[in-house]
Amino acid sequence: MADILVTEKINSYYGKSHILFDVSFAVHEGETLCLMGRNGAGKSTTFKTLVMDIVPKRGKVYFKEKDITGMKPYKVARLGLGLVPEDRKIFGPLTVKENLILGTAMGKGRKGIWNLDLVFEFFPVLKDFQSRPGGTLSGGEQQMLTIARTLMGNPLVLLLDEPTEGLSPVMVKTLKDLVLKLKEVKTTILLSEQNIKFAMAVSDRVAIIDKGYIRYESDIETFKKDDAIKKQYLAV
Ligand SMILES: Nc1ncnc2c1ncn2[C@@H]1O[C@H](COP(=O)(O)OP(=O)(O)OP(=O)(O)O)[C@@H](O)[C@H]1O
Ligand SMILES: [Mg+2]
Repeated sequence: MADILVTEKINSYYGKSHILFDVSFAVHEGETLCLMGRNGAGKSTTFKTLVMDIVPKRGKVYFKEKDITGMKPYKVARLGLGLVPEDRKIFGPLTVKENLILGTAMGKGRKGIWNLDLVFEFFPVLKDFQSRPGGTLSGGEQQMLTIARTLMGNPLVLLLDEPTEGLSPVMVKTLKDLVLKLKEVKTTILLSEQNIKFAMAVSDRVAIIDKGYIRYESDIETFKKDDAIKKQYLAV
């Protein structure tokens, strides 16, 4: 499968703090790759660098073979990198439906399968609550809304930064079913997780980041059997 999103030895900083060290990985078209790592490992920093909210000091990011390093974040979004950030930013006063319609703007007319009808089919709860202000939804429902809004822009790669964080077990199950359905329609997904069980249920491959370094990369079946790696780099 072709590589759709590639990082080549990226080094990212907050001011003088060096956070990512020569981080390299590739997301293949159609796969679900999970970036795993403990709190503070550098997962969100990696995602912010992918969408150029942080420009790496050294290294490159390629999207569909185009060098997007240093590009404006809104342009990156328009090219088709759809980030669902860790801190779920919905527009509280706007209704659920209005939030979703705002998501289409990111697509810039890009053709894709996502529209209101399909979103409501995948997320029945959003259909039921379409006229409610987004801010009145529960945390889990808001998480669904942020994902759905990003899908409305028909991204070519969906970036989910720790989507299970703070969700109840029931919502985690709903999210798992959702990601499995997205895989059925061949969505390319990069997610970050600390929830090993969830990651193993939805991912095709895993990469582990620790203190800003990629320490491990494998297919999911190998990872499932590798208890030593889980102990070394993840909270188990
Ligand atoms: N705005 C910031 N300014 C300075 N340092 C930061 C900033 N944001 C994050 N860091 C530091 O960068 C490192 C990586 O943080 P990052 O948020 O990428 O980790 P993470 O893997 O997403 O963790 P978590 O699972 O807690 O979300 C941490 O040491 C963190 O303290
Ligand atoms: Mg994070």
